[in-house]
Amino acid sequence: MAQFEIRAREGLARLGKLQTKHGAVRTPLLMPVIHPGKAIIRANEMISEFGFQMVITNSYIINSHEKFREIALANGVHALLDIDCPIMTDSGTFQMYFHDLPKEEIDPISIVEFQKEIRTDIGTILDVFSAPDVGYEQVERDVDLSLERAKMSVGIKGEMMLAGTIQGGMYTNLREKSAQQMGKLNFDVYPIGGVVPFMEMYRYTDIVRIIQACKKYLPPDRPVHLFGCGHPMLFAQAALLGCDLFDSASYAKFAESGRMLLTSGTVHLEGLSELPCECPVCSTTTADDLKALSKDERDAALMRHNLYVSAAEIRRVRQAISDNKLFELTSLRARSHPALLEAFETMLEEMNLLYQQDPMAKTSSIFYTGPETVNRPEIVRFHNRIMDRYPYWETDNILIFPDSGGRPFSESASTIIDFVRKKPPQNLIVLFLTPMGVVPWELEHVHPAQQCIFPKKVDSNTLQIVENRLLEFLKSMKFKKIIWFSRESPTNSILARLSEMTDVMVASTASEALENVESAEIKENDWIQRKLRVILRYQWGEEAAVLADKGNLTAKISKSTGKIRYVSQDGHILFTMVPTNGLLTPTFQGGIELLNLGIDSRYIVRIEDEVREFVAKGRSALAKFVVTADSRLIAGEECLVVDSEMNLLGVGRALLSGEEMLIFKRGVAVNIRHSRDT
Ligand code: GUN
Ligand code: ZN
Repeated sequence: MAQFEIRAREGLARLGKLQTKHGAVRTPLLMPVIHPGKAIIRANEMISEFGFQMVITNSYIINSHEKFREIALANGVHALLDIDCPIMTDSGTFQMYFHDLPKEEIDPISIVEFQKEIRTDIGTILDVFSAPDVGYEQVERDVDLSLERAKMSVGIKGEMMLAGTIQGGMYTNLREKSAQQMGKLNFDVYPIGGVVPFMEMYRYTDIVRIIQACKKYLPPDRPVHLFGCGHPMLFAQAALLGCDLFDSASYAKFAESGRMLLTSGTVHLEGLSELPCECPVCSTTTADDLKALSKDERDAALMRHNLYVSAAEIRRVRQAISDNKLFELTSLRARSHPALLEAFETMLEEMNLLYQQDPMAKTSSIFYTGPETVNRPEIVRFHNRIMDRYPYWETDNILIFPDSGGRPFSESASTIIDFVRKKPPQNLIVLFLTPMGVVPWELEHVHPAQQCIFPKKVDSNTLQIVENRLLEFLKSMKFKKIIWFSRESPTNSILARLSEMTDVMVASTASEALENVESAEIKENDWIQRKLRVILRYQWGEEAAVLADKGNLTAKISKSTGKIRYVSQDGHILFTMVPTNGLLTPTFQGGIELLNLGIDSRYIVRIEDEVREFVAKGRSALAKFVVTADSRLIAGEECLVVDSEMNLLGVGRALLSGEEMLIFKRGVAVNIRHSRDT
């Protein structure tokens, strides 16, 4: 059974927990490579000084040295390395490739047996490493042989967790084939292998393509290991693409050739007059002093530096995932080397998988980092969702308000907002035009609209996309008049393009803008029904929006922010609004209403009846008890948890997508907020 569960996520990145016989580790995780005999920095220190949780060593090397073999066989690999933390072992695949050893050198079955005998936590099959330049036919044979060995190995793994490596060189279809077939076997970890030569050649774009091809087919409930990726400049990018485990021999290899790893690249000590880093090594010595050391002492000092930097970056990646800042961290890293920027842009070209997995309803701010921001999954999804679910597509007047940067939007537009609150949507629609696209007034507080922070000027690529999104929106809209409120804004230039296509009335004051809207006043507070209709539909579709049509919803509005705080019907609170993302969360009563309205089945998760009382009392709905979940349910959405008779047990936020809920056997599927008995 898979030993992996997800705690938080961003893009394809997961903050996970992997259970081993020697305890649980948090992912994304970096394992320093320990040479069993000649480790300059011992395994123990890796844990106590550098804070690593797990190490990786090589079972082939252990097996081929009598001294190591005997200790490991007698007392286990943990005794050999003298540590009590989880250990992964590799099989000798890389040594076979690197030293061009004869194929009889390692027997694929014996090496798996050996890893079991030395009681490693996670063993690795003897996959076949394809050199980067051998051509398609050879790589295909390597993939097939790896698969054959994988099938034999998985049958004998016993209690040991086993890693089944994906090969396929740079051939997308071979990677896909390898991932697809290996994915059907019951491996506990899926390494992506054969990438070391690409790493060394700075071919990061190829690595991105390789990861994307593999991730498409690997089971989501197993951790993915990017084998041999030990350079910290790549951790953020690889994690964003869904890699959970990393190993580093680089800290030692680079040190031995006088090179220092940095999150922005590699530098040679030889060329330095200043040390570019704040780690304990660099803070307590100088470049000249390092150069003056003996080779062994210098190697050790550079190794320590390399380990500090690598460990810090992996911690930063984990924190970034929990803060939803990994995309931004990756954008930043991409600027430090053209090869990384190219890799990042390659990722942006093929975002489908990332869009599917990236969770909804975040609360974090989104900082503009460059032309990529407008294509972030949160922003693309917002646009697609308003195109799909905004309810008002016919109006007399569209008032376009270019975003001036202030948040909330309505603060810098209070006269207009007071005005639109008195009009029916058939009379007036207000759109904020921001550097992420169109934000209808009703959704002004919804993430990421309010949470996006842009500078006063943005790049022309962003403006082009914003223009396209505006035109797409307007094309769907039947209207009589467009009024453009002219003011200082990064999106101002779009006025010129819009005017070429249609009549636009330009106003520079609120009264000027509004005198053109002939009036049809509505009842006080009808704007609340209007706003709720839009938000309900945005979150759960048109069935839910019917709730606002009855006209008997009331809302408590915050005096200080103007935001809805909660929504009631006949004195019962049905929804509260999360102030940081502007989205509604149903109370239990609200959940009952949604269920009675017959909302789309994608928002309904059915669990086994044996655990219904637990969920009814407010405990999380665990993935292993999910019976049905809809593949269109996106992680992060608010959903309803029911039993086999469609009785509501609880409402809460999905941690997994509907598809994942059916696959995962560990961890939480839905975090329950409100339940029947609480
Ligand atoms: N170490 C670095 N790359 C690889 C690989 O492709 N397979 C295995 N087993 N180990 C590796
Ligand atoms: Zn340093």
